[in-house]
Amino acid sequence: MSFPTPSTSSANYEEVYEPSEDSFMLLDVLEMEQSYINSHLSYPVVTEIGTGSGIVTTFMLKSVVPKGVFLATDISPFACNQVLATSKENNGTQYLEALRGERTTMMRPHTIDLLVFNPPYVPDDKPVEPYPETDGDWVDWALLGGEDGMQVTWKVLLELKTILSKNGIAYILFCASNKPEQVAVKMRELGWIVTRIVERKEGRELLSVYRFELK
Ligand SMILES: C[S@@+](CC[C@H](N)C(=O)[O-])C[C@H]1O[C@@H](n2cnc3c(N)ncnc32)[C@H](O)[C@@H]1O
Repeated sequence: MSFPTPSTSSANYEEVYEPSEDSFMLLDVLEMEQSYINSHLSYPVVTEIGTGSGIVTTFMLKSVVPKGVFLATDISPFACNQVLATSKENNGTQYLEALRGERTTMMRPHTIDLLVFNPPYVPDDKPVEPYPETDGDWVDWALLGGEDGMQVTWKVLLELKTILSKNGIAYILFCASNKPEQVAVKMRELGWIVTRIVERKEGRELLSVYRFELK
């Protein structure tokens, strides 16, 4: 079984992150996890943080989660417009909204059943904040994750308890410099069931995707 990869031909890659190995690995994981997701959640609220071109959200709403409500967030205004355009280009669902802002700070606690995040994970000396209000090189913010590449990801990990619903599930992507096995140990100490779904060498990067659920 292989679900079709959504087309993103309406995207301008000077404005939004171009789908790359990390994006495609996330699609593979979501396809592998489809029965797990659908056996644990029904009619879920699905949120992708950092939707970029919208390829991942569109893949979820077209192929992975047959019935659900989809909320895609991004700090970039271009990404928020693009996810709607990509969904439309692929005849996606009407149950999709794009919310501009950081992570899921605009959402009511405990509303997200399925959370997916391909973060800005590349280590960099430059702090990731503050974000520009309107203008800015948004593609830089797509990649650079500050110290250890974990500045945004740790915020999301520590917020999971507040943002996920009772049976919520999160899938988060890491590169090797993020030290994902150390992250998994810390998250288990905080009461999470953490499962590495895939680890794969993609070009020069060793990428992995982990699943987080509350015990
Ligand atoms: C690596 S790209 C992933 C894009 C897309 N999900 C994919 O897999 O191709 C990271 C995305 O996260 C967004 N982003 C960065 N920091 C964010 C934050 N604090 N809150 C929400 N989105 C953020 C960026 O604008 C970018 O679109």
